Amino acid sequence: MGITFDKEQKTFRLDTPGSSYVIAIADEGFPGHAYYGRRLSSSDKTALYLRTEEPPYVPSRNARDRLSFYDSFPAEYPVSGIGDYRPSCFAAHDSLGREAGCLLYSGHRIFSGKPDLPGLPAAFAEDSDSETLELLCRDSCLHLAVTLRYTVFSDTDAIARSVLIRNEGETAVILTRALSASVEWDDLSRDILTLHGSWARERHIQRREAGYGSYAVSSLRGEPGHQDNPFLAVLSREASQESGEVFGANLVYSGNFIAEAYGGQFDTLRMNLGIHPEGFTWQLLPGDSFQTPECILVFSDHGIGGMTRTFHDLYRNHLIRSRFRDADRPVLLNSWEAVYFDIRSEKLLEMASASASLGIELFVLDDGWFGKRDSDNSSLGDWTVNESKLPGGLRALGDDVGKLGMRFGIWVEPEMVSPDSDLYRAHPDWAIAISGREPGLARNQYVLDYSRTDVREYIWGCLKKILSEALVSYVKWDMNRPLSDLGSQALPPDRRGELSHRYVLGLYELLERLVTGFPDILLETCSGGGARFDPGMLYYSPQIWCSDDTDAVERLLIQEGTALVYPLSAIGSHVSDCPNHTVGRTTPIETRALVAMAGTFGYEMDITRIPEEDRSQIPEQIRRYKKHAALIRSGDYYRIAAYRETGTHDCWQVVSKDKRKTIMTYIQVKACPNIRSRRIRLQGLLPGKRYRLEATGEIFGGDCLMYGGWLFGPLKGDAAGVFLEFTLAED
Ligand code: GLA
Repeated sequence: MGITFDKEQKTFRLDTPGSSYVIAIADEGFPGHAYYGRRLSSSDKTALYLRTEEPPYVPSRNARDRLSFYDSFPAEYPVSGIGDYRPSCFAAHDSLGREAGCLLYSGHRIFSGKPDLPGLPAAFAEDSDSETLELLCRDSCLHLAVTLRYTVFSDTDAIARSVLIRNEGETAVILTRALSASVEWDDLSRDILTLHGSWARERHIQRREAGYGSYAVSSLRGEPGHQDNPFLAVLSREASQESGEVFGANLVYSGNFIAEAYGGQFDTLRMNLGIHPEGFTWQLLPGDSFQTPECILVFSDHGIGGMTRTFHDLYRNHLIRSRFRDADRPVLLNSWEAVYFDIRSEKLLEMASASASLGIELFVLDDGWFGKRDSDNSSLGDWTVNESKLPGGLRALGDDVGKLGMRFGIWVEPEMVSPDSDLYRAHPDWAIAISGREPGLARNQYVLDYSRTDVREYIWGCLKKILSEALVSYVKWDMNRPLSDLGSQALPPDRRGELSHRYVLGLYELLERLVTGFPDILLETCSGGGARFDPGMLYYSPQIWCSDDTDAVERLLIQEGTALVYPLSAIGSHVSDCPNHTVGRTTPIETRALVAMAGTFGYEMDITRIPEEDRSQIPEQIRRYKKHAALIRSGDYYRIAAYRETGTHDCWQVVSKDKRKTIMTYIQVKACPNIRSRRIRLQGLLPGKRYRLEATGEIFGGDCLMYGGWLFGPLKGDAAGVFLEFTLAED
């Protein structure tokens, strides 16, 4: 690990345990991207990779072809307007009408540790396990100081990048594009991996060939959305699950974003990630600064799985800061799919009591407990308990749940306001809306203007009151519609383009207050299922509700895509009723439980009404989950087979860091007649050691399990699951 500066060559080499990233400063001071890949022992001669000795040369030596230089140079932070016609990271103009940018190296600082990004979520690290490079560049026309910041970690092959832009001049500067990171490769024979979906179908994996022109995933919804995720990976064509080179990038941000790959005329591939520039402006008065969100870059030469495990480690060790990060999460029962809005104390307590007797530890009261909310058409913003549904309020219910030996949690949706609410009637100007236009409704609701301090203060007051009123040990923070009609009654017209980012900053401020004011509350964030599943949220909430689709088969696809980047400990996952409320499919409760185990594990059904045969399996499911909770939370995840690819079965495995324990789940999605067994090769074990199959006590060689594999015979019925546990056999 470490960052070194080679004065002679003017190169910076950023090393992680298995990767090197080299920045070279070309003549005249252009910072360029020289190398990213497997770890190098030295950066001698890497400056050559900038190819400035080839046509069109460095501008000072060939001024007549300055534009060709800009348009082919692998800029560390590409700027627009002076001749690099590829997608850029940066664009600005000042109040005198001067625009474009030309960022030249003007100094640097290398130091131990990693600074926080004020107001923004970001990876954290100790001085002893990280090092940071700040590369200072200046634009002499707009008088901007642009600091490109890179942090390397001693324990993971990840680099955290962000940019700080400061107005050093005497006139206002307007940023119109301020992305977080750019990486360039000098060949196009690569693939691109992204995550796509829709409500109830989040984060399905898509792999495609890179080619000429642009390919982007993005959001203009004010949150990442169900549709795209702020993640993009560039892979060598031959990269597979466990071999080949993979470069993953993930934006630590919960608002509008773009992750773009562009194939250029010289067969180069540029990748940019950051806040989506459409509609974005930010005014910097003299002396003001703008901090971009952070982008995490991961390199793996062990295929897609290697990238996944690096993201998981980085997020578990350097991003999730909740004190629940390393703790067993309570097994919960959520009231939503059980009773929806039909909230009544007696019924809730009946469910809580049945849950407690089965070993469930936390009862979560979902939507419907406040104002006059009997459906989704009212009361958001009126955060007072409906005592006709819950006599004695949250305190009484929480106390009664507590008497059953369970903890108590609640659902809130604090970013929203219903038109039919006392809050909206008193403060219609608190909703995001364009003056003179009626804002569009989604799920019958408007979005509160979190760029406003008065709105945030009001909501914080409500939250504090609710959370102090009863013994609440869990909060589900939901957000059930995207932003639209972007207008704020509080922002001056020349700051209109700041609303979406200010909204996200306002949200982060409230989440910060919540997690520091109530550190003992387990926070789970949510957005109509999984529309805001991003690393920014993980900084505040150690778990995120993954999808409103709880069907075990649909979840195979959703959870495979989610776990591609995000650790299993973050994936909110429940066993729900059948036929499934979203797709109408019936699957065995054992399979539903096995799928939910690749996440935070809970139940979401009227436990008093399910068949006794199913209910009787719950205590054993909970015992099994708790037995393996620490392994699931901290182990290495291997994706062995994907239903997405096989069309018939799915399989994943978690191996403890010391390789002494592994669990493996196999789901036969579709039963087939007259087939032989399927050979599934385990991963990540010690080949020279022997492992005991816990169910039978039989002993198998690690090499046998990994190279020979395990034979899964045909199972009876669709969506049938098998769970195996192996532990190292002492010699
Ligand atoms: C969203 C969430 C659900 C549930 C409902 C309540 O859809 O994703 O889990 O909380 O809101 O209205």
